[in-house]
Amino acid sequence: MDVLSAAGAIERAGGSVIHMELGEPSAPTPRRIRDAAKRALDGDRVSYTEALGRGALRERIGRHYRDTYGVTVDPARIVVTTGSSAGFVLAFLALFEPGARVAVSAPGYPAYRNIFAALGIEAVPVPLDDANGWTITGAAVERLHAEAPLAGVLAMSPANPSGVTMKRETLAALAGACRRLGLWFVSDEIYHGLTYGVAAETALAFDDEAVIVNSFSKYYCMTGWRIGWLVLPERLVRGVERLAQNLYISPPYLSQVAAEAAFDAIDELEAIKAGYAANRDLFLNELPKMGLGKGPAADGAFYLYIDVSHLTDDSLALSGAILRKAGVAVTPGLDFDPDNGGRFIRLSYAGSQADCREAVSRLYSFVTANA
Ligand SMILES: Cc1ncc(COP(=O)(O)O)c(C=O)c1O
Repeated sequence: MDVLSAAGAIERAGGSVIHMELGEPSAPTPRRIRDAAKRALDGDRVSYTEALGRGALRERIGRHYRDTYGVTVDPARIVVTTGSSAGFVLAFLALFEPGARVAVSAPGYPAYRNIFAALGIEAVPVPLDDANGWTITGAAVERLHAEAPLAGVLAMSPANPSGVTMKRETLAALAGACRRLGLWFVSDEIYHGLTYGVAAETALAFDDEAVIVNSFSKYYCMTGWRIGWLVLPERLVRGVERLAQNLYISPPYLSQVAAEAAFDAIDELEAIKAGYAANRDLFLNELPKMGLGKGPAADGAFYLYIDVSHLTDDSLALSGAILRKAGVAVTPGLDFDPDNGGRFIRLSYAGSQADCREAVSRLYSFVTANA
C-alpha cells in the first residue's frame, strides 16, 4: 500500500511508473465474457440469486473439473462466492473454531493471516526455503502437529508470492498427511490455469474431503467482477449456505452470468497467458544478468520472488529506492513474510510486454548505478 501511494504521488507529479507490484492481470476481461454480461444487463432482471449461486454456473464449474482434471464433482458441493475472498471467510467460519491453529506458508498471501486474525484463528507459519522446495510438505505438517495440534492446513499452488507450483507427489503427500492426522486441508487453487511447462493438479484428485478455494480473478481476468467458488465436502454445504445467505445474501448476479461464459473464452485467455509466458521468459533471461536471478523456481502464477539479500535486508526501503530512482513499483517481501521477507521483493509480470521490457531496462540502470 505504501508503494502504491508513493507510485501514485510520482504519477500525479507527471512522473512515469511501471507497475510490477499489482497482483492482477493488466488485460481487460475477454470480450466473450463482457458480451454475456451485457446481454444479461439488457435482458434480465438483475436480482439476488440462490445463496449457493446459480444452478447453471455450479453445473458449469462441475463440468470444468471433469474436463480439466478428470475429477467428478457433484455441483451440489460447489458454492459460488463473492471472489475467493468471501470463499475464505465462509470456509474458515465453517471449518475452524476460534483458537484453532492453522498452518500457512511464510511467505504467503497476507490476507490469510489477516482473515485468521479477524476470526480469532491462529496462523502457524511454515517457513519456506530451498530445502523444502518452497512448499508446505506433509513432513512439515506432521512435525508441527506433533509440537502442538493443528486444526488445518491452508496451502496454495501455484503460490503467491513465489510462483511455485507443487509437484503432484508433494500435493498428494500433503493431502495424505492431513487426512491421516484428521486435519482440514484447504487448497487455494486461484492461480490454476497459469502454469508454464507444468500442470497444476487439484487437491480433489487426492482427497475428496479437501476444501477447494478458487476464483475467476486471475486466469479468467475478472478481478473486479468479484466472483469465485468453493468445493466442499457434502456435509459442510448446508452450513455454508446458511452463512452465505446471512453474510452476503448471494454472489453478484451479472458476475455469475459472466463467469459462466468465461469457460468459453479460452482462446482469448490463452492469448493473454502467452503474453505472461513471454514476460516470464524475458525476466528469467535478464534478471540473472543483473544479479537478481536468485529465488524460488517459479513455474506458475505471474510472480517472481527475488532474493535481494546481497543488496539489503530491508526490502521496504529497497522497493522505495527502486520506485524513486528507477520508476518501477515492486512489492517488498515483508508484505508476505514479516520474518524473512526483508530479503526479497516480488515482481509481477502480468503487465504488458512493452512495460516489462521497459522495466528490465530501468532495473538495469538502477542496479548499475547502485552497484
Ligand atoms: C493466493 C491468493 N488467494 C486469493 C486471492 C484473492 O482473490 P479474489 O478474492 O479476487 O478471488 C489472491 C489475490 O491476490 C491471492 O493472491
